Amino acid sequence: LKDQPQSLIIGGTRGLGSVLAKVLLEEGQTVSVIGRRAASPGPPGYQHWSVDLRDRKNLAKALQEIVSTRGKLGSLVCLQRFRGEGDEWTDEIDVSLSATKFIVEAMVDNFADGSAKSIVLVSSAAAEVVADEQGLGYHVAKAGLNQMCRYYAVVLGAKGIRVNLVSPGTMLKPENRDFFQKNSEIRETLERVIPLGRMGTAEETAEVIAFLCSPKASFVTGQNIRVDGGVNLRSTETLARKLANYKPTN
Ligand SMILES: NC(=O)c1ccc[n+]([C@@H]2O[C@H](COP(=O)([O-])OP(=O)(O)OC[C@H]3O[C@@H](n4cnc5c(N)ncnc54)[C@H](OP(=O)(O)O)[C@@H]3O)[C@@H](O)[C@H]2O)c1
Repeated sequence: LKDQPQSLIIGGTRGLGSVLAKVLLEEGQTVSVIGRRAASPGPPGYQHWSVDLRDRKNLAKALQEIVSTRGKLGSLVCLQRFRGEGDEWTDEIDVSLSATKFIVEAMVDNFADGSAKSIVLVSSAAAEVVADEQGLGYHVAKAGLNQMCRYYAVVLGAKGIRVNLVSPGTMLKPENRDFFQKNSEIRETLERVIPLGRMGTAEETAEVIAFLCSPKASFVTGQNIRVDGGVNLRSTETLARKLANYKPTN
């Protein structure tokens, strides 16, 4: 396994991250993940490091171990966001934004020559619009990630490292399927406003990340790919008319 450049997923223990790990493993990749929960065994090629990203000393140690035991990286995906008790501002900025900078800078000289050399940062529409369900820290961290991507895409270009963003819309993932099943009104409203007429899944976002992590995306850098069924294209008035179920009479 050490000869095959690995993919490192920060926040790969649940949600989109765990779905991405599955997609990359199915492609035959070696996958390392970081998250706080206790390390659980996985299929061949999979290893989990249990680390709180706020603990930079442990994080540095884990990153070092990941490279020394499993080899250099082909790709790095940062899709963690802060969950749990804590301060919405300081913990979200620390876990989503500052830890990402720390990890990118720690790993920048640990990408394997001849590999895809890809970094993907997972952002959100909340980088640009305001989502009532999320706090200020989340919005500012995501806006920061968008500019961090553009900065690193330019600065790391000389090393052949590509840096891109993926911005998912609300997606169905193993942890929220029940919620959207029970709250059919929310699901149906989403289906009405999303041009593709349905909610997307974590698998669909994971496939786009996997593409950016592959050599097929070898000349793509600094881009933000929205995986949201086109919902960002709707005008405010169209949304209002759809929500009001307005039907013109003539
Ligand atoms: N869900 C959506 O519909 C949606 C929409 C737009 C954008 N996004 C973005 O997509 C990404 C994934 O979303 P998700 O809903 O799948 O996230 P999630 O289920 O909440 O997963 C977050 C991940 O971050 C890890 N994490 C959180 N705090 C940590 C800490 N202090 N130290 C180490 N790891 C930590 C968690 O691992 P542990 O619990 O093991 O620590 C988990 O693996 C996020 O960046 C999110 O902002 C999601």
